Amino acid sequence: TAGPTQEAIDPVRFISNHSTGRMGYEIAGAARRRGAKVTLVTGKTALTPPDGVTVVPVVSAQEMFDAVTSRASEQEMIIKCAAVADYRPETSAQDKIKKKDGELTLHLSRTQDILAYLGSHKRERQVLCGFSMETKDLLENSRAKLEKKGADLIAANSLKDEGAGFGTATNRVTFLTRNRTEPLPLMGKDAVADALLDRLLALYQEKQ
Ligand code: C5P
Repeated sequence: TAGPTQEAIDPVRFISNHSTGRMGYEIAGAARRRGAKVTLVTGKTALTPPDGVTVVPVVSAQEMFDAVTSRASEQEMIIKCAAVADYRPETSAQDKIKKKDGELTLHLSRTQDILAYLGSHKRERQVLCGFSMETKDLLENSRAKLEKKGADLIAANSLKDEGAGFGTATNRVTFLTRNRTEPLPLMGKDAVADALLDRLLALYQEKQ
């Protein structure tokens, strides 16, 4: 999965984040070049998907949940690179919300955690990878996600690191697995994608 989700407030507005989809599209392209059959479930981005990849466009976290979970049992590896909204407006207004004097309060409810769902419904020998973007306590928070969501690997990146994060061509990630913490140097997102696929393939082979 790649890109942001958009959670509608009304027909005009939404809540989203700064994800451009670049890291996820690099992973999809790298996997395809290695001969994998790739399905890219993508939120709205300005990018052109790599050739040879099946693209499933989605908008909201709920749509991404449905698209991913309905296909999950056919996948040997699932890489959840999307920046999924954690909260969505409780209701989406049918008509544009008109401005009035005073404040407006939006009530938000939790979205379903797709990675956590996949972790608790994992197919035998399936490899599950998540991403983690943090602004503090990167490794502690990311290791907690690895455990809580039942992932095999979390690629952790800090928004505070120069050259890492949204829209850049580079990234600095740390790969966390059950028994290893592997910090990588600043690299192109294409090289990060290849390094990630190397690790996931090794995990996959261990499980067979
Ligand atoms: O948002 P969080 O830091 O928990 O995201 C970590 C991982 O969980 C990412 O791989 C993200 O795609 C996934 N996630 C998800 N569904 C959510 C929230 C996050 O699959 N609702």
